[in-house]
Amino acid sequence: MAPVALDVAHKLEETFQPSVLTAKAKLPSLTESYKTLPAQWMRDESIFELEKRAIFSKVWLLTSHTCHFSKPGDYISGNYVFSYFIIRDRDDNYQAFHNFDEVEGFDKAANGLFKIHTHVTPQGFIFLNFDASPNPVPFEEHFAQLPAEWKDTDFSEYEPYYNRQALGNFNWKVMTDGYQECYHCPIAHPGFADSLDLKNYQVEPLTNSARHSAPKKSNPEEMQRFTFVFPTNGVTVTPEMWYIMRTVPLSATTTRMEFDVRAIITVFSRKGVSQDVLLENREFFTQVQKEDFDLCEGVQRGLNAGVYSTGVLHPKEENGVLYYQSRVLHYCESHLEAERRTGKEIHPSRPSQEASSDSCSASRICSELDEGKGTLAW
Ligand SMILES: [Fe+2]
Repeated sequence: MAPVALDVAHKLEETFQPSVLTAKAKLPSLTESYKTLPAQWMRDESIFELEKRAIFSKVWLLTSHTCHFSKPGDYISGNYVFSYFIIRDRDDNYQAFHNFDEVEGFDKAANGLFKIHTHVTPQGFIFLNFDASPNPVPFEEHFAQLPAEWKDTDFSEYEPYYNRQALGNFNWKVMTDGYQECYHCPIAHPGFADSLDLKNYQVEPLTNSARHSAPKKSNPEEMQRFTFVFPTNGVTVTPEMWYIMRTVPLSATTTRMEFDVRAIITVFSRKGVSQDVLLENREFFTQVQKEDFDLCEGVQRGLNAGVYSTGVLHPKEENGVLYYQSRVLHYCESHLEAERRTGKEIHPSRPSQEASSDSCSASRICSELDEGKGTLAW
């Protein structure tokens, strides 16, 4: 994998003038090979604000899966930098709306609900795009190969198993850095090292995503796959269970980890497979997740202490990190250019009053949601 970050970095040097604009955010000047984003990017609130405008307001974010909705009227609410709720409507389509309390300057009473762009893949993955303009980046262009990564899995066989959340004291990119390489695995994850052939762990960057794979030691013909979904998500599928890992940024130095886990429960019990197999899987992945979590908190303590400035990435073992960091730079760079041209901050997620004619005035949905039901009566 070529060091894609370098092209972006050179371009940055040409185009970015730090004297212009709001951002204390100093974009990195990566003049040497394979450098990481500077430590400032992992702890500076002004850079996090820039990322919210440049990335989280504009790209497609993996938020859920249709398996969480069993019938029309079911809905879920969540927060992924912005608060939202998703409803399965009477035609079995999925619609998403802003939680108004989070939308600055938007008149809920006057405008009703404000829709969020929604895309559901053939495998049932639900993506949201908070860009309030009518034409966000097309999903197929943004992710290209991603939906095909899951085409061989029958997700309908898996049932709800458990959800887990944890609040972490680290920047979202510290977790994503770790997710995008397995250089650290032999030391940090002894369980991984026992079950996977880590010498042959591969990371293949795709468009705004990455395919991770490693042969299983028990059967080298069988690959364990992990899928990275830019900017902050991971999807792990095994024959026994699968889960979405959402790394939800809360501030420059805090992050909420969310795991939605589903497992083959009924099929297993029909086949007489012991539930201990599931429990083993659960313990295995929870252990790996905790090891990463602790590692991230340790790394962030070092970053906060200001000792570390920038590091060097291994061009092969950390090609996934180079790839995703180059995407972060790309989005921040192009957004700052646009802000410099207009002379003000641009917040793509903020709906304009003119755009409100496109909003849904289903006030009944609002009131029923306020009552905290999990299902709406249509
Ligand atoms: Fe890890």
